[in-house]
This record gives sequence, structure tokens and C-alpha cells, in this order.
Amino acid sequence: MSNRPDRNIGLELVRVTESAALAAAPWMGRNRKNEADKAAVDAMRLMLNTIEMDGVIVIGEGEKDKAPMLFNGERIGNYDSGREVPKCDLAVDPIDGTRPLALGLPNALAVVGLAERGSMFFPGPIVYMDKLAVGSDAAGVIDLNAPVADNLHAIARAKGKSVTELVVVVLDRPRHEQLIAEIRATGSRLKLISDGDVAPSIAACLPDTGVDVVMGAGGAPEAVVTAAALKCLHGEIQARLYPRDEKEKQLAESLGYDTNHVFNCAELVKSNNVYFAATGITGGELLRGVQYFSGGATTESLAMRSQSGTMRRIQAVHRSEKLAQILHDQRERMAERDKQS
Ligand code: FBP
Repeated sequence: MSNRPDRNIGLELVRVTESAALAAAPWMGRNRKNEADKAAVDAMRLMLNTIEMDGVIVIGEGEKDKAPMLFNGERIGNYDSGREVPKCDLAVDPIDGTRPLALGLPNALAVVGLAERGSMFFPGPIVYMDKLAVGSDAAGVIDLNAPVADNLHAIARAKGKSVTELVVVVLDRPRHEQLIAEIRATGSRLKLISDGDVAPSIAACLPDTGVDVVMGAGGAPEAVVTAAALKCLHGEIQARLYPRDEKEKQLAESLGYDTNHVFNCAELVKSNNVYFAATGITGGELLRGVQYFSGGATTESLAMRSQSGTMRRIQAVHRSEKLAQILHDQRERMAERDKQS
């Protein structure tokens, strides 16, 4: 690797997540999940197509609830400019937290991860993965195959805390009844969330967020998205495919997936050249949400890069009129490109 400062696509990805967040924000609390998702997907696609790269969407989002999607396998980016462009895999989630956005609740984010071509795990038709995510201080001590109590004691030791001082975040779902009982039995503090396990997994890697560990089964695409972020932050996520029933288990196995295998960060995203960006849509502990002022809006985002380990927190002021013009021009260029291809 050269030590010369070079292009940081992560900074370009921030414009992508900002656009998705700005497009989704007007739908806050309006209980129209699909319209919000479509707005965010369209904005994200438009902006991804401005980036000089030959990208493939490995992790798109939407199959689970038949929402509008950036399709798995979709080719994306400004790859036909005549210049040499990097070949990339992308993991996108235009809105992680469509339900909280629809209800005006906190922690809806727009997120994108990017890595070298061929490096992202594709979970196929399997919707969920069982996950365990921590920050760098506990990265070496977790084991998804070990009992919950052993993991929490090991994490507490690594962080120099008592197990009763840990905050464990879990999606509030019936499938987690046993997990929740086991966490409670250790005396750890528990935060049950309604949706959105990407934001707390990132929060577990950052100081003073009040999150130590995320546990439980959530979206499989979100496991890969989270791995992209945690690679940049030296955190760790372990994840195992979580088929919902015997039929899904057999389907996974017939496709060659090992449903017992515990994937670590380095298997979910193999490349060491990873970029990640996230922008808050509704405000939460990790990021402020989109806020409007006369003539525009503000956003707050994170941009990360694994090679340098740099994480930037970016606050942006957006002028509605100018942005509308730029988006209009870009839409026309894309329509022209689609006509020619
Ligand atoms: P979307 O808003 O992207 O659909 O996902 C929200 C989410 O809460 C994820 O963060 C989480 O991993 C998954 O859904 C959990 O799935 P479910 O709501 O089916 O338990």
C-alpha cells in the first residue's frame, strides 16, 4: 500500500447517504413506509451513479418486506466515463429503520458500505442472522458459540467494568425471549429497541454512547452493512445465519450455506479497503436527524475508512433550491444514459 494520500470514496459516499436522508426525512411520522423507502432509494441511486466507480450492489435491501429496492446485482456508478475506475462491492440500506421513520421515532439512518469487488458476503435468501457486536476494546473476547453469560463477563472484563454496568442492546422481539432472560440473569443492563440494529452496533464502537454490546437476531443484510462500519472502527461483529424454520434451513443448506458457521467481520467483508457512510434521518444517540430551516436543511453524518482508521463526523447545510436543480440535472443525465444503454 502506498503512503501517498489518495482518493477517499468515503467522503463521496457521505453525499449519497445525505441525499437519501434528505429525501426520506419529509416522510417522518407519516406512516407511509414504502413512499419513504422509494424516495430514499431513488436519491441514493441517483447519487451513487455520480461516483466514479464500477460498483455492484451485493447487499441491497427490500426483499424482506417487498419494499422498493436497490437490487442485488445491480451495476452502479459512473463507470463509463472513459477513465479507469475502481471495481467495488456495495452494501446499501437507504433507510435502516423504515418503521421508526414512519412513526417519527429515533435512530433511522441512511447507510452505505463499500469495499473491493468480490469481498462482501451475500446471505442469499436468508433474512436473519444471529449477531454479537462490540467495539475494539472487546473485539478479541467474544464468541457467538459461547453462552450469553460468558460473553457478557468477558466483555465486562475487557472493558474494565462490572457486568452489571454493561448496556446490552437487543431488538424487542418474541424470538429473543430466552436471550433476554439470560441477559437479565447476569444483572447486565438491557436496552430493548423497536428497530434498527446498525446504529447501536456502531455506537458500541464509540465512546460515551451508552452502548457496550448488541446481541440477537436481526437482518442479514444489516450484518454485512454493520461489518463494513466495524472494520473501519476496529470493532467486531460475529454473525450466524438464522433460518426462520426448517424449510429455510434446508433452502440455505441446498444453496451451500453452512447454517452453523460463525462469520466474523473479516469474513462478512473480506477486503481491508473498506469505506462506510451514514446520515441520520430521525435523530438518535448516534446522529442528529435532518432538521429544516428556511430555505434548506441540515444533516449529520459519519464517514469512515478502514485503511486510515479515520472517522469523520460531518455536519452539512443544504440549500433546497440549488439541490433541487442539481438533482434535476442529474436525473436527466441518468435518463439519457439509460436510453443509450
Ligand atoms: P429496515 O428498516 O431496513 O427494514 O430494517 C430495520 C431493522 O430493524 C434492522 O435494523 C434489523 O436488523 C431488522 O430490521 C430486524 O428485522 P425484524 O424487524 O424483522 O425483526
